[in-house]
Amino acid sequence: MSYYRRHLFFCTNVRPEGAERPSCGRCDSARLRAYAKSQLKELGLAGPGAVRANTSGCLDRCEEGPCLVVYPDGIWYTYIDESDIDEIIESHLIEGRPVERLRLPSDPPDSV
Ligand code: FES
Repeated sequence: MSYYRRHLFFCTNVRPEGAERPSCGRCDSARLRAYAKSQLKELGLAGPGAVRANTSGCLDRCEEGPCLVVYPDGIWYTYIDESDIDEIIESHLIEGRPVERLRLPSDPPDSV
C-alpha cells in the first residue's frame, strides 16, 4: 500500500506578464487547488491512506492548461472552475471513472 492512495498535482507556476508561454497560475490554479484540498477534507478523502492535493511547478503542458495530474493513475486533466474540480472528485476519485470531457492525452505527443 502506498502512503497516499492518490496524489493530485496542480501546476501553479506563474510566468511574468508577456511571457512566451502561458502559465497555469494565471488561470486561477492556486485558488482551485485550495478548493480541491478543502473539498477533499470536507468529504473525508484527504490524508494518509487517501488523497493529497499538492501544488506543483510547471509540468510542461502549459499550452493545454491549467493542468493537473492524478497519480498513480497517470490521468491528466484541464479544468476551468469549481464545478470541474467537483466532477473530478466525484467521478474519478470517488467512483473511479475518469472525467473524459476534461482529460488531456496521457501519451506523449510523438508516441507511436
Ligand atoms: S505552467 Fe502549468 S504546465 Fe507549465
